[in-house]
Order: sequence, then C-alpha cells, then structure tokens
Amino acid sequence: MTALEAVSDRPATTGASHDEALARDVVEGLTSRPKRLAAKYHYDALGSQLFEAICELPWYPITRGESALLRRESAAILGRLDDPATLVELGGGNGEKLAILAAGLAEQGRAATVHLIDISETALARASRTVAGYPSVAVRGHCAPYADGLRAAVGELPPDRAAMVLFLGSNIGNLAPDEADRFLAAIGAALRPGDSLLLGTDLVKPEEDLLLAYDDPLGVTAAFNRNLLVRLNRELDADFDIEQFTHRVVWNARESCVESYLVSRAEQTVCIPAAGCCVRFAAGETIWTESSYKYRADAVVDMAARAGFAYGAQWIEPDAAFALTLLDAP
Ligand code: AVJ
Repeated sequence: MTALEAVSDRPATTGASHDEALARDVVEGLTSRPKRLAAKYHYDALGSQLFEAICELPWYPITRGESALLRRESAAILGRLDDPATLVELGGGNGEKLAILAAGLAEQGRAATVHLIDISETALARASRTVAGYPSVAVRGHCAPYADGLRAAVGELPPDRAAMVLFLGSNIGNLAPDEADRFLAAIGAALRPGDSLLLGTDLVKPEEDLLLAYDDPLGVTAAFNRNLLVRLNRELDADFDIEQFTHRVVWNARESCVESYLVSRAEQTVCIPAAGCCVRFAAGETIWTESSYKYRADAVVDMAARAGFAYGAQWIEPDAAFALTLLDAP
C-alpha cells in the first residue's frame, strides 16, 4: 500500500446542508434558556489552529501526557493490531498522535489503513499530510461528525481483520455522561468481536490546574472560545460585537467537568440573519459552549463496561493525570 487517499464524505456534511445544520443548531441553542452552542462548532479553520496552539500551552497537559503514553506503550498497543493493521480515529485533529503509532508500525515494517473522522476539514488535511510521511499507511478521510463518520468508516472495514478505534485526547469529555454512554454503546454495536477501542481520558486533578488549562494566561483558550462568535458572524452574517463577550470557566465538582461559557458584558441584541432571528442578552448572561468531563481511572472502565466493552489494559501518565484505556469490543 502506498498511496495517500484522503476523501471527504461530502453529501451529508458540506455545502448548504452543513450551513443549514449550523443555522438550525444556533437558533435552537440561542433561543434556549440557558443559552448554549455546541462545542463541535469551535473547529472552523481558525478554531482548529487555535486548538493546536492550546495543545502547545504549558498549562494544557492533555496532548503532551497522551503522546508520552502512546510512545511509552506503543509496543503493547501495536501488538494488538492485525496485519495489515486497520485503525479508525475519531476527531484526531492534526494527526500527531496517530503519527506516533504510524512511526511504530513503519519501524516494524507493517502496513496499515487508517480512517480519519473529523468535523474539521483543516484538521483532516493536516492529519493526512502528517501521516503521508509514512508511505505504508494509507489514509481515508471522512469529514463528518462522529456518528456519521463512524458509520461510513465501519462500512468500509475489511470483514476478515480486526480494527482498533482510537478515541483520544479526552474528546469523549465533551459528552455528558448519558451521551457518552450512548456513544460508547453505538461504537460497541458498530464493532465486531475482536475489534478494540483505545480511549484517552483526562483525569480529575486539582481545581487550580484545571482552571489554568481552560483559562490560560495567554488568552489562547479565550480566543478559541470567542472565535465561535467570529464564525457565526462570517458564516451566518451575525453581528456579534466580539468585545462584548468574555470567556469564563467554572469547575463543576458535582458533575466533574470544566464548563466553558461566553458571557455578555452588557445588555445587547444580536441579529443572525442567516438563522432568521435576533437574540437579546441581559448583562452577565451566559452562553454555555463546552463541558470537559474529568474522570477517575476506574470510572472509565465502568463507563466502557456499561457499553459492553471488556477491560484490556489501562496506562496512566501521572504528571498529566491522563489515562489510556484499551477495551475489547462486545
Ligand atoms: C478537544 C474536547 C478534548 O475539552 O480539553 C481545549 C477542547 N477546549 N480547551 C478539551 C478544549 C478548551 C478539548 N477537547
């Protein structure tokens, strides 16, 4: 296998239907009380680059911790793959973590096919380029939300070989517990006996560290969050005054998640023509934009078990307080 083959699943996800989904979600979210916008909409071209910058911040330990674990445990992880190897990565971003495994496979002289599922065209393009450096790894890109992309990828899996799904970076942390349960169950239902799931989860750590990770002194995370409004101005012709919204994070100990908000500085009205609505904000009113759940290592195993997965292995990086859990499909 030599060719780089990155293709988008265009029909359901691009063009008019994509904008319509955004417009629909924005109206629904901003006319709700409390107001909300879905975290997946952070990842336009600029948002994807800002997220990459976040991963370099000294206060954001997830990417470094997980990469260290992947390097440390690469032999154990690669030992679980068939030949040629089949990987399916959900929301892999720039592909740097996948490249750690690709490098390991290349070193062992093994070939692989990787399905990349990402909502961001920018991230998919970056990841495809990163992995293109490994000619024995063929890449197939699916530009789609997780569920749609997973369905497309699973439909293309070779029937006679086990696949490993990578759900890294604590991406699962954006899902509320009931959503995470449902999503893991959907992955479990899509997989076959012998397939596996490698799940990256950020662990609970001191509140002070969590707040710094999501509200950094350089303001990169604030820019990442506020860029949502820049996106709505561009794509839906909205008239958000970006200066009139600030970034705020709260540690919700009861739910075990960091909640991110955009806070209106003043009473104001914002019009969103492409969504056909105007929205009033009170001074201090919030838009909930993201929750980032933090786990206990044993709770990750319990969560996966509820979806029918069996324990395979778990590795923990103590400095970052991050866990990789390998699970066997039901
Ligand atoms: C990509 C969802 C794992 O929640 O830590 C980083 C996104 N938001 N800083 C996270 C994010 C603010 C990130 N995930």
